[in-house]
Amino acid sequence: MAQRGVLLSFEGGEGSGKTTQARRLAEHLKGLGYAVTLTREPGGTPLGERIREVLLGRNDELSPLEEFLLFSTARAQLVRTVIRPALEAASVVVVDRYYHSSYAYQGGGGALSMDYLRSVTAGVVGDCVPELVLLLDIEPDTGLSRCSRAGAKDGTASDRFEGRGVEFHKRVREAFLSCAQAEPERFVVVDASDGIEDVFARVRDAALEVLRARGLQPLAK
Ligand SMILES: Nc1ncnc2c1ncn2[C@@H]1O[C@H](COP(=O)(O)OP(=O)(O)O)[C@@H](O)[C@H]1O
Ligand SMILES: [Mg+2]
Repeated sequence: MAQRGVLLSFEGGEGSGKTTQARRLAEHLKGLGYAVTLTREPGGTPLGERIREVLLGRNDELSPLEEFLLFSTARAQLVRTVIRPALEAASVVVVDRYYHSSYAYQGGGGALSMDYLRSVTAGVVGDCVPELVLLLDIEPDTGLSRCSRAGAKDGTASDRFEGRGVEFHKRVREAFLSCAQAEPERFVVVDASDGIEDVFARVRDAALEVLRARGLQPLAK
């Protein structure tokens, strides 16, 4: 049977640097000759991008349950059409947020039952569970101020989740850290308040260790 690829996810609060680091890691691994698929949640498929607009936009009022079910729909399609096929083709798949974000935002932040979230998620993702979760941990104030600086620069308004109070974001952070404590073998927690280069060095080392442990080789260049 052909070798299966490796799934890596980035998690963390607003402005923790997920998008920055996911892109850098994908470029780095491509440079080493790996086949890499970079995708994001919500989004990553045409329907997922439409659901992203609803979820991140502020036009529709949504309960935590409604949010979770929309995220789950987008996630199911991303798994079926992007993540699973890429893993079957031996790609390294890097996903910018995945289901631990639901545990943190709709569980920790929105107070939905973790058992419920886990049981729906098990059906949604099946065997597409990340072998490494890179949790970029940051004080909400620091992350949110990075986002508002970036938003001021490119003229984007804060989204549904960024716009919530700091107490919400503190619960989200705690829930992410609880996920990491519950599965220490799967998570690497990185202090994301450091500079981009320092954070990247830790991200790269953790990712390469998992690829080595799995014996996944770069394609011949
Ligand atoms: N380690 C860092 N130190 C300072 N600024 C950062 C760092 N990482 C990312 N940024 C900046 O913070 C903003 C949010 O980063 P981004 O990667 O979009 O975070 P996320 O995807 O986690 O919300 C961007 O303007 C980015 O350039
Ligand atoms: Mg991002």
